[in-house]
Amino acid sequence: MTDGTSIKIGDRDYGVMSGSTGPDVIDIRKLYANTGMFTYDPGFTSTASCESGLTFIDGDEGVLLHRGYPIGQLAEHSSFMEVSYLLLNGELPNKEELDKFSYTITRHTMLHEQLATFYRGFRRDAHPMAVMCGIVGALSAFYHDSTDITDPYQRMVASHRLIAKMPTIAAMAYKYTIGQPFVYPKNSLSYTGNFLRMTFGVPAEEYVVNPVVERALDRIFILHADHEQNASTSTVRLAGSSGANPFACIAAGIACLWGPAHGGANEAALNMLREIGRPERIPEYIARAKDKNDPFRLMGFGHRVYKNYDPRATVMQKTVREVLTALNVTDPLFDVALQLEEMALKDDYFIEKKLFPNVDFYSGVILSAIGFPTTMFTALFALARTVGWVAQWNEMISDPDQKIGRPRQLYTGPVQRDYVAVDKR
Ligand code: SDX
Repeated sequence: MTDGTSIKIGDRDYGVMSGSTGPDVIDIRKLYANTGMFTYDPGFTSTASCESGLTFIDGDEGVLLHRGYPIGQLAEHSSFMEVSYLLLNGELPNKEELDKFSYTITRHTMLHEQLATFYRGFRRDAHPMAVMCGIVGALSAFYHDSTDITDPYQRMVASHRLIAKMPTIAAMAYKYTIGQPFVYPKNSLSYTGNFLRMTFGVPAEEYVVNPVVERALDRIFILHADHEQNASTSTVRLAGSSGANPFACIAAGIACLWGPAHGGANEAALNMLREIGRPERIPEYIARAKDKNDPFRLMGFGHRVYKNYDPRATVMQKTVREVLTALNVTDPLFDVALQLEEMALKDDYFIEKKLFPNVDFYSGVILSAIGFPTTMFTALFALARTVGWVAQWNEMISDPDQKIGRPRQLYTGPVQRDYVAVDKR
């Protein structure tokens, strides 16, 4: 079969490539030319779509590394700005580099004023993710000087603009739905503090950033920054492989993230906890999750890669306790979530299928305690994941081997047949 360097398929040898860690890959780029056959892997459960040095996940061990640094250490000691620099540049910045990067991002946080009128085209009850898709896609109509993807400088400016403007866009989406005036960025605040003020501040009074909330939200942004080749990142890469401009690619990523199986799970998970309501009803919902005839799934549970505890969920649960204590609030839904986790992890169904809480299971409890409506949860996920999307997009564009993504299929439709006139059918 394989001597570690190649694998024989039919009468041909195919190279086995090793990364710096993790599973080897079989280089099947010549398979179709040699055999006339495709591989078949709907959902890409066994397919490496690219080479990347950004994020490594070991799903069995519950390990998540960004440029080699464990997520737990980054969540504990780093900041979202520092992690953004790390993802984009490959190394942790020194103080001068971090200050310069933060300064640059801060001065891209304003949105072209004409885009404010774009919001007025939406109904007030529009879902923030619908607004995010529209506004981010529209950025390419306003920032033409950073759409030439062949120019590394323009790619960098577009990346900075997207990272910087997502908080402003998300905050404006929230303000629009509640009928409050937009709040402009304030350069003296941190990235996350600025977002809190644009979201919860009003012109009528000074908004004071709560440092505990600022730290907790910044940590939540770190936990959502990047995650290997997940569905929305793969969407961004595929869109980018056609040469589409970066704003259009990120808008595509936002659209994909919205799905409840992906980033939309944080909103769905809190709605599920609210529907369960109290611990006595947990067994009923666990039974439904196990019932093949019931489409209900435990939202915030399970993962394509993690067959162990999602390390982000561990940090998230710890952060819930910190925020609820700091805000001196109790949330019965947190107790429901803790008991639901405990009961599920003792149930053979979840044990056998290796279903554990993922990043979305606890995040809603914190975001709700901070004051965000559930409809904003996925918008916050998109805000944070933008740095991962642009870092992955830059990596793809810079890869000399990259070409337009164009998968094939197993065709099971009708073979060729002749047209029949309508009066003969
Ligand atoms: C994110 O990919 C990423 O990295 C994503 C993400 C990121 O940071 O980008 O981590 C963010 O999207 C986290 C996942 C959020 N989604 C949810 O919490 C939604 C609920 N979970 C699922 O629907 C599901 O677990 C997925 C979509 C996350 C993963 O699905 P897979 O890998 O395709 O697994 P599957 O659907 O084939 O499930 C395997 C089995 C099935 O049972 P069988 O058909 O084998 O009998 O496990 C069951 C499923 O029915 N199952 C669940 C379940 N998740 C899987 N049963 C009950 N409740 C669940 N949550």
